[in-house]
Amino acid sequence: MQQITKVKALRSCVRDWHQQGQSVALVPTMGNLHVGHLQLVKQAKELANKVVVSIFVNPTQFVAGEDFDTYPRTIEDDLVHLQGIEPDLIFIPDVDEVYPAGLEGETQVLVPELDGIFCGAFRPGHFTGVATVVSKLLNMVQPDTALFGNKDYQQLLVIKRLVTDLCIPVEIVGVETVREKSGLALSSRNRYLSPQEKEVAAELHQALSGIAEAVKQGSEDYQRLEADAIAHLENKGFKTEYLSIRNASNLGEPTGEELVVLAAAWLGKARLIDNIQIRR
Ligand code: PAF
Repeated sequence: MQQITKVKALRSCVRDWHQQGQSVALVPTMGNLHVGHLQLVKQAKELANKVVVSIFVNPTQFVAGEDFDTYPRTIEDDLVHLQGIEPDLIFIPDVDEVYPAGLEGETQVLVPELDGIFCGAFRPGHFTGVATVVSKLLNMVQPDTALFGNKDYQQLLVIKRLVTDLCIPVEIVGVETVREKSGLALSSRNRYLSPQEKEVAAELHQALSGIAEAVKQGSEDYQRLEADAIAHLENKGFKTEYLSIRNASNLGEPTGEELVVLAAAWLGKARLIDNIQIRR
């Protein structure tokens, strides 16, 4: 398990693999790895001959007042976790390597249709930061495949869209959310939940599951389903930013057979997001 911090060395390694006819998968992460990330790496190993995991806490996707400074940086533990799965290369660049011209006035990647809605409305600029760093990582590694968790559903759509629009030759794969037994989606930010809050947190998944089931059974009163679920969550102590049933491919109006119900809600100090895809 080779560790590399510089783009030049990374490129040379990946070029050698490609010349040998090996396919390459990238799993971008911000570290603080949990079982959900390890699942991405396992799936990457099934899809490609060589797997690169990047660990980079990207400053540009944190909005003012968010937890960039305190975001858990647990590189030693991350490497121990990865040793069990053995990706081929860990890319751990510093900020200057990823943003060589600095963070002010850098070129940005904006996906306008998805940037300012749902999570983007509450975290202005977040998806531009994500789209920019993912574009950079894809250009640095030049993988055949890149894997992302379905939990960050809007992020996944942003990345699929930028890859299409910028003609980046990579297949983007969304990987199923890993959950605790209670249904709570694994997330690095679950560490902000107290043990009691963690029990309550599972209500978010339950509320989304209830809606998914009702829609599958034929309910089309989406506004009522949304309002009832929000009222239930608020009653349990959540502060809901949004909870909405939308078209699964573009988060537009909920038409067509493929829908998604997605939500973001605060519980104590933790901002939780989750979603369920629904096929009608
Ligand atoms: O999902 C994440 O961990 C991050 O948003 C990503 C995709 C690694 C970009 O920094």
